Amino acid sequence: MNKRVDESVVMPVITIDGPSGSGKGTVSRLIAHQLGWHFLDSGALYRLVALVALRRQLELSKEAEIALIARELDVEFKVNSSVEEARILLEGTPVRDEIRSEQCGNAASKVAVLPAVREALLQRQRDFRRLPGLVADGRDMGSVVFPRAELKIFLDASAEERAQRRYKQLKEKGMNANLAALLEEIQVRDARDRNRSVAPLVPADGAILVDSTTQGIDEVVAGILEEWSKLT
Ligand code: C5P
Repeated sequence: MNKRVDESVVMPVITIDGPSGSGKGTVSRLIAHQLGWHFLDSGALYRLVALVALRRQLELSKEAEIALIARELDVEFKVNSSVEEARILLEGTPVRDEIRSEQCGNAASKVAVLPAVREALLQRQRDFRRLPGLVADGRDMGSVVFPRAELKIFLDASAEERAQRRYKQLKEKGMNANLAALLEEIQVRDARDRNRSVAPLVPADGAILVDSTTQGIDEVVAGILEEWSKLT
């Protein structure tokens, strides 16, 4: 067995970071499924904190109040054995569509700039690391949360391609969508995520850069599994 993995065989971690729409959610879920590993959707945690703050009509810059929400978040991820999204229960009630809205995504990226909120979610995220392994999806999985991960991927795609994907997704759900507005929202959110002072969206040290602009999901998944197999 390769030495790099052997030293930390206990609970290997693959981190997959990148901007929204790069396909990292689907890719991460498929990889976790194929390896039979656990899966962390860290963006969902930020979205849940934002949802509670929105429900309480808090200003999204109120760091202490929002960090308290993050610390006390009563959430359960009901994982199933397929590649479907986990059912997320907030205080015992399912919240799936609410946290996936553009409004909640934008609010999530606002609360995510607050250092106390990130700190409050840190241990909660690390607790997802369990046997036989973890695939962690987010923005700072390889740089901050699991800096010693065995394999780190940074999955990117052009903003135009990501806006197109989101547009298609919304249309398929029968929802209204405007491509130009989506592109602008993506660019604003990207700028906020990439330029914040705490845990900005940048490739972690040692991350392998993968561009999904012209690659299908299956190709990206196969490429990452190939990288993993080189380490084992
Ligand atoms: O990945 P997703 O789009 O669900 O994430 C929503 C927002 O949460 C992102 O735009 C980002 O600002 C924030 N986030 C983060 N760190 C993570 C995951 C998500 O800052 N690890």
